[in-house]
Amino acid sequence: MTTRPSRVGSRTWRNTVLLAVALVTASTVAVSCGGSPETSAAPPQQMSTGDPQRGAELITKYGCGTCHEVPGVKDADGLVGPPLDHFANRGYIAGVLPNSQDNLEKWIENPQSVVPGNAMPDLGVGRHDAEDITAYLYTLR
Ligand code: HEC
Repeated sequence: MTTRPSRVGSRTWRNTVLLAVALVTASTVAVSCGGSPETSAAPPQQMSTGDPQRGAELITKYGCGTCHEVPGVKDADGLVGPPLDHFANRGYIAGVLPNSQDNLEKWIENPQSVVPGNAMPDLGVGRHDAEDITAYLYTLR
C-alpha cells in the first residue's frame, strides 16, 4: 500500500525529468542547427559569373552525377563522392580550399593538383565549362 503510490510518483517524476531533458536537447539542436540568417555562422552565399543553365547540362555531359548527388540534375545520384547539395553555403571545397568561385573552378578543372591521389579524376573540364558548372553549384542553397 505504501510502496505503490510512491513508485507511481517516482515514475511520474522520472518521466518529467526525461521530458525536460528531451525538450532542452531539442531546443539546443534547433538553436545550433537552425538559426536565423542574421545569427547564422554560415559563410555568405556564393555568387558566380557563369551560366547556371549551361552548367547543369555540363554536369550531365561530364558525368559528375555518377559520383555525386546533385539536386536538380537528372540521374545525378552517385555515392562515390560527397553530395553537392547546399554548395553555395559550404565553407570548404574537399575540406582544403575555402569555398570561392575561383577555388571551385580550380577544383573542377584539376582536382588532382589540389588533393593528389583523391578519388575524383581530372576530367578535362576547361575554364569556361568550370565557370558554368560553378554557377550551377552556387544555385544550390
Ligand atoms: C569518379 C568519381 C567522381 C567524378 C566523376 C566526379 N567527382 Fe567530384 N569528387 C569525387 C570525390 C571522391 C570527391 C572528394 C574528394 C576529396 O574530398 O578529397 C569529390 C569532390 C568534389 C567536390 C568537393 C565536394 C565537397 O564536399 O567539398 C566538388 C565540388 C566536386 N567533386 C564536383 C564535381 C564535378 C563538378 C564533377 C564533374 C565535372 C565531378 N565532381 C566529378 C569524385 C568524383
